Amino acid sequence: MYKRLMSRRRTLWLGLGTLASIGALFKNQVMSWNNQTQAIETANRDFKVVGGASLKQRAAAKGLIYGVAIRYHNLFSNQKLAAVIAQECGMIVPEWELKWHVGNKPLRPTPDTFDFSAADRMVKFSRTHKMQVRGHTLVWHESLPPWFGETVNRQNAEQFLTKHIQTVVRHYAGQMHSWDVVNEAIEIDDGKPRGLRNTPWWQLLGENYIDLAFRVAAEADPKALLVYNDYGLDYDTPEDEAKRTAVLKLLERLKSQGTPIHALGTQAHLSGGDNRFHPRKLRKFLSDVADMGLKILITEMDVKDRTLPVNIQERDRIIAAAYEDFLSTVLDEPAVIAVLTWGLSDRYTWLSEFRPRPDRLPVRPLPFDADMNRKLAWNAIARAFDQAPKR
Ligand code: G3I
Repeated sequence: MYKRLMSRRRTLWLGLGTLASIGALFKNQVMSWNNQTQAIETANRDFKVVGGASLKQRAAAKGLIYGVAIRYHNLFSNQKLAAVIAQECGMIVPEWELKWHVGNKPLRPTPDTFDFSAADRMVKFSRTHKMQVRGHTLVWHESLPPWFGETVNRQNAEQFLTKHIQTVVRHYAGQMHSWDVVNEAIEIDDGKPRGLRNTPWWQLLGENYIDLAFRVAAEADPKALLVYNDYGLDYDTPEDEAKRTAVLKLLERLKSQGTPIHALGTQAHLSGGDNRFHPRKLRKFLSDVADMGLKILITEMDVKDRTLPVNIQERDRIIAAAYEDFLSTVLDEPAVIAVLTWGLSDRYTWLSEFRPRPDRLPVRPLPFDADMNRKLAWNAIARAFDQAPKR
């Protein structure tokens, strides 16, 4: 298999050499070929980076912010990780600590209590290192406390939602760059009106839970950028197209009713070697969002390698190509103001547990490997920032 691939590669290079003389016909175009050709095409890219600036510096030079999601116990147990985050990132987002209930130090231990200790220490870390913080997430259907189902009902749901948002957002008022106020409210397959997800909040309060959440958050911290965050908006597939349409209509409805929403967060959980990436369609979607006067954040970027070859060099190249192709497309939209990856190091990625490779090899979705060495993905992100138009 590999010999065939190599001979094809030689043939293809000769072919490409000829084609290259035609000009940049294939320059960085993601061809709708199979993974094998994709890998060969990617093999020609050098991901060369100029200079020694960090991702933070390269992003800031263009008026952008680069940041990462991080968990409390990883940040404060791995000094090398903390040092690299401080060097490379202009922002952090607590991966767990500002959700209602994740891990052993949950924000909402009981219906009447809040435990800010973990998030407070993370906010202090960000201030010490002159970084910004974003909050994730005030209203979601996942990571609800064990007591939620038996405590929250139609009569008290509005009070619980209002009190949660007021208490949490006021606690950090003036310190948060932005909040993911509502997360993942669209799920076409749930079959509800306007593609809304059948969440506990939708069941208890109807669609207006979304407007309510934004209004309460705006009152609690008028300085924070208020974001609607979702996934599955990236590729040229019927599912992603339907979701992009439903999200655009949701944003239009919210804007038309005066909801204080300021930005869309698109999570960008990508798949390496996925030839369904269609730059023009994605660019049009982002332009439509920006035309509503909304900013855009790439909030949770990573690139799955589940279906990629075993060979690490080849895998890393395909992952890097996905980062560069996606970011070069989205950063062309001036409304995009921040790029965050969902983790910094392969050692701490949700994909290890939630999207493991069938061969159980360690996954490699992020800019740094498990030992905090830079990977080609780092180069790809650096190049995208370097090539991005200045904001
Ligand atoms: O570590 C504990 C384990 O000890 C325990 O036995 C087990 C069962 O309770 O839970 C384990 O913790 C889990 C943790 O992941 C580590 O695996 C939590 O329950 C689980 O909720 C947590 O999942 C997180 C998930 O959001 C739900 O909050 C992921 O870490 C986190 O990366 C993921 O992030 C989401 C974004 O918030 C929204 N967008 C999608 C993204 C990926 O799913």
